[in-house]
Amino acid sequence: MKVGAEDRRTLQPIPGEDGVDIIDQRQLPHALVLARLRTLEEVAVAIREMWLRGAPLIGVAAAYGLCFALRKDPSDASMDSAIAVLRATRPTAINLAWALAQVDSVVRPLAPAQRCDAAFAKAKALADADAEQCHAIGEHGFTLLRQLCDWKQGKPLQILTHCNAGWLATIDWGTALAPVYLAHRAGYPVHVWVDETRPRNQGASLTAWELGQEGVPHTLIADNAGGLLMQRGQVDACIVGTDRTTREGDVCNKVGTYLKALAAHEHGVPFLVAAPSSSIDWTLRSGVDIPIEERDPGELLSTTGRTANGRMETVLTAPAGTRAANPAFDVTPAKFVTRLVTERGVCEAKEKGLLSLFPERAP
Ligand code: MRU
Repeated sequence: MKVGAEDRRTLQPIPGEDGVDIIDQRQLPHALVLARLRTLEEVAVAIREMWLRGAPLIGVAAAYGLCFALRKDPSDASMDSAIAVLRATRPTAINLAWALAQVDSVVRPLAPAQRCDAAFAKAKALADADAEQCHAIGEHGFTLLRQLCDWKQGKPLQILTHCNAGWLATIDWGTALAPVYLAHRAGYPVHVWVDETRPRNQGASLTAWELGQEGVPHTLIADNAGGLLMQRGQVDACIVGTDRTTREGDVCNKVGTYLKALAAHEHGVPFLVAAPSSSIDWTLRSGVDIPIEERDPGELLSTTGRTANGRMETVLTAPAGTRAANPAFDVTPAKFVTRLVTERGVCEAKEKGLLSLFPERAP
C-alpha cells in the first residue's frame, strides 16, 4: 500500500536471507522507521513487544523467526524449542500457530541440511499468499460495500472500524480495510470512523495513519462514541478483523469489538468481519474457549506519544499504584456477525456458511 508515493509491504526479506526488515509500528504515526530482525530472539521480542502486530503479520513474522532458528541449528530439538518460544509470544491470534505449523509440515520430513532453504521458501510463500488473500478479501468485501454505496445514492458510505485491521496488520492490503481501499480507489465515496482503540491506540496511531496515506477520508473517535453514532444513523456498516474465528463463526478481536457488535445489532447496522482462512480455528466451536491475552496493566495506566520536542514519551494517566486489568481481546458471538468475508467469498457466520466456502473442512 501507499506511503507517500511509494508502495510498501510491512515485511521485506533481505536478499541473501540475512534477515527481514519490518516497519517498527511503535514509531508510527510520527516516523516511518524500519527495524532489521535477524534472529529467533529478535523476532520473538518484536512480536511480544508489538513492534509489529496484527494477526496475519505476526504469523508471517513467526515463520521467519523459525527460519532464523533453523539457519543456526536445523535439528528437531532446535525446531521444537523455536516453535515453543514463538507460540508463547502472543496467545490469541491463531495465525501465529497456523503459520508455524505450515513451516513445520514442509520442513520436518526433510534432512536437517535441507531444512533452512525450505523454511525460507515456505515463509516467503506465506507472505505472498497473505497479500493475495487480503486482496481477495478486499474484492469480496467491495462487492458488499458497492451494494451499500448504491443505496446511499452518491452520499459517502459511513464505515466504522475498530483497532487496526489494515495493511499494517498484514503483509499488504489488510483484511477489514482492504474493501475500503478498493472502494476508494474505484471512486466510491467512503468515510471511515476510526475507533481510537485504547489502551494501545492502534486506531489513532495506525489506522488513521494508513487511511491518511491512501487519502481515504476518516475521522478519529473515542472508543465509546460508536454507540451514539449508530443511534444517530451515522454508521452504514462496521467492518473489523479477527484474531481467531471458530468453526461456528464466533470471532475474537481487539477488546471493544463486542460492544460495537452489540450496538450494531441494536441499531440494525451490518457488522462485517474480514476473516482470512489463516484466522479460522477449525478445532474450536465456541469463542469462549479462545485464550485471551492479558497484557501489562501498565499499558492502561499510561499513554505514549510524541512530545513537542520530538521525543516519544510515556506519561501516567491514572493514580500511581492503581490496580488495572488489561485483557487485549474479546469474543463476539456469531449471532451478532452479519457476514464473514473470507478470501474465498462471503458467508453467514455459521458452521454451514464456513463449510460452504471450505468444504475440505467438513467432518
Ligand atoms: O493487539 P493487536 O494490535 O495485534 O490486535 C490486532 C487486532 O485486533 C486486529 O483487528 C486483528 O489482528 C485482525 S488483523 C487483520
